[in-house]
Amino acid sequence: MTVHWHVAGAGAIGGYFAHQLRRYGCDVTLLTHRPSDGTRALTLETGENIETLLFPECPIGQSGRIDHLLITTKAFQVTEVFDALVSALAPDATVLIMVNGLSWLQSIETTRHPVQVCAGTTTTGCYRSNRDHIHRAGLGATQVGHLSAHKAMMEKPPPGIAELLRSTPDSYWSTDIRSILFNKLAINCAINPLTALYNVNNGGLLEGSLNDEFHSVIEETRTIFSALGYTGVATDLGQKAITVARQTAANTSSMCADFNARRRSELEDILGYLLDTLKPEAASEVDTPHLDQLLFALREKEAPYAKRPTP
Ligand SMILES: NC(=O)c1ccc[n+]([C@@H]2O[C@H](COP(=O)([O-])OP(=O)(O)OC[C@H]3O[C@@H](n4cnc5c(N)ncnc54)[C@H](OP(=O)(O)O)[C@@H]3O)[C@@H](O)[C@H]2O)c1
Repeated sequence: MTVHWHVAGAGAIGGYFAHQLRRYGCDVTLLTHRPSDGTRALTLETGENIETLLFPECPIGQSGRIDHLLITTKAFQVTEVFDALVSALAPDATVLIMVNGLSWLQSIETTRHPVQVCAGTTTTGCYRSNRDHIHRAGLGATQVGHLSAHKAMMEKPPPGIAELLRSTPDSYWSTDIRSILFNKLAINCAINPLTALYNVNNGGLLEGSLNDEFHSVIEETRTIFSALGYTGVATDLGQKAITVARQTAANTSSMCADFNARRRSELEDILGYLLDTLKPEAASEVDTPHLDQLLFALREKEAPYAKRPTP
C-alpha cells in the first residue's frame, strides 16, 4: 500500500521533504494554518533541476486520519501543532519531528498518546524566495531515530520512516538520535546566538575579537553538558563547533537571518532551552556569564517583534 505522509509546516525544509517523498512515490498532503483552496503548488530548485509539484493541502484540524506525520514548523510551533493533530493520529501512527532546538521535547514526551514519535536533524540547507518557491542551497546528511528509550524501538524504524530515508539522499536511521540532537543543540548554542548578536556569517566567529568570545561561549556550553553527564556532547565540542563554523563560513545562520528579518527566532528553543531547562538539571553548579549575557542581549533585541510569554 502507498505510504501517505502529512506534512505540517511545508516551509523551506518541509517543502523539500514533501518533494522528496512525492518523487519517491509516497502520497503527500500538506497541512496548513492558513485558508486553503485544497491544493498548493510547490517549486523546488536545486541547482541541477527545477520542478513544480501540485500537492493536496488542507487546514490543520480537517485532515482526517493521519498515519505518518512530518512536523517541520519552527521549534516553538511544534507543541501547538502536535496538540492540534494528536486526535487525528491513527493508533499506530508515526510522527517525525524535524526542527532545530528542543523546547518541545518535554511536552511531547509527557503527552499521553500511543503513537511512535521519532525526531530527526538535517544538514541540508533550504530557503524560500517566496512562500511556494524553495531553493536547496546545500545538500547535507539527514539522521532520524526513535525518541523512545526502549531498545527494540530504537533499533527499528517505524512504518513510513524507511520510505522517507530512501526518498532523501544521504539519510540514515540512528539508534541514538538523542545524542545527535544534543550535539546539534550544543553546536547551535555555540554558533547561532553570537552570529545573531553581531550580524555576521558563521565564519565571522573565527575572526578577531569575536573569536575570543566564540571560545568562551563554547567553553561554557561544554561545561553545562559535562555537568549534565553528556560526555559525548562535551568531548571535543570546541573542535566540532570550530569545524562547523569553518565549513559553513559563508552561511548566515537561521537565527541571524531571523533577527535581520525582524521575525521571531528559535532563540528560546536553542539558547533559552540550554540555560532555562537543561542548566538547572546539572548535577553541579555551573557559571555561565557569557551565555547569560548573550541570552539577555538577544532577548532585548528580539523583544519588539517576538511576542511570547516572559520566561
Ligand atoms: N531551512 C533549512 O535549511 C533548515 C535546515 C535544518 C533545519 N531547519 C529547521 O527546520 C525547521 C523549519 O525551518 P524552515 O527554514 O523550513 O522554516 P520556514 O520556512 O519558516 O517553515 C516553517 C513552516 O511552518 C509553517 N507553520 C507555522 N505555523 C504553523 C502552524 N501552526 N501549523 C502549520 N504550519 C505552520 C509556516 O507556514 P507559513 O509560512 O505559511 O506561516 C512555514 O511553512 C526549523 O526548526 C529550522 O531550524 C531548517
